[in-house]
Amino acid sequence: MGRKFFVGGNWKCNGTTEEVKKIVSTLNDAQVPSQDVVEVVVSPPFVFLPLVKNSLRPDFHVAAQNAWVKKGGAFTGEVSVEMLVNLDIPWVILGHSERRLILGESNEFVGDKVAYALAQGLKVIACVGETLEQRESGSTMDVVAAQTKAIAERISNWSDVVLAYEPVWAIGTGKVATPAQAQEVHLELRKWLQANVNAEVAATTRIIYGGSVNGANCKELAAQPDVDGFLVGGASLKPEFIDIIKAAE
Ligand code: G3P
Repeated sequence: MGRKFFVGGNWKCNGTTEEVKKIVSTLNDAQVPSQDVVEVVVSPPFVFLPLVKNSLRPDFHVAAQNAWVKKGGAFTGEVSVEMLVNLDIPWVILGHSERRLILGESNEFVGDKVAYALAQGLKVIACVGETLEQRESGSTMDVVAAQTKAIAERISNWSDVVLAYEPVWAIGTGKVATPAQAQEVHLELRKWLQANVNAEVAATTRIIYGGSVNGANCKELAAQPDVDGFLVGGASLKPEFIDIIKAAE
């Protein structure tokens, strides 16, 4: 289908200056496929964004793990989209399940964040995914469709959006979705885009999988026709992240 493979590394709330420098050094020394084959975006915590941005190899890019929902101001503790633009940070992850569940970010709030970030020129990795309870009750597609709808209702340009399907029950658990489970939801999401946005967006939007991806399971997942890459957590802090990038080959 010609969608460029996308591998994101979500470092979450981890790292020291020394650890970050070591990870960057490992990434900079790695032999990986060209940018024509795979797009690599790593997402350190805010405090390490300038360090990573200024020391990372030029064919890899950086993302923030969140951004505020409107122009900055009296919002203590938040980081504005304008600040990320000022630091020349091109990507931002929004709607991660850890923010939805721990911090109560609603579908509408995430949709507003995606719309504002895109409007200010950022590219967005937008996360959706169901909990184990929702999957076991058979409401997976209802949940991820509602999450995607809240974004689709607020944006008109999908060219700078990567959609990340991250089943909550697979995040940090070692219980990776089977290739069939991932393909099923990715295909349903692509059908949803076709029916509710348009055929072009459905065909071109990268839908990536996240949830216990590692060097051992990435190839089989990458072989699925509607899995366009990964958003990797724990394994992105380890040298095996390079193996996951190579799954693009
Ligand atoms: O954003 C990616 C993350 O939620 C996946 O985490 O550790 O299961 O790869 P992990």
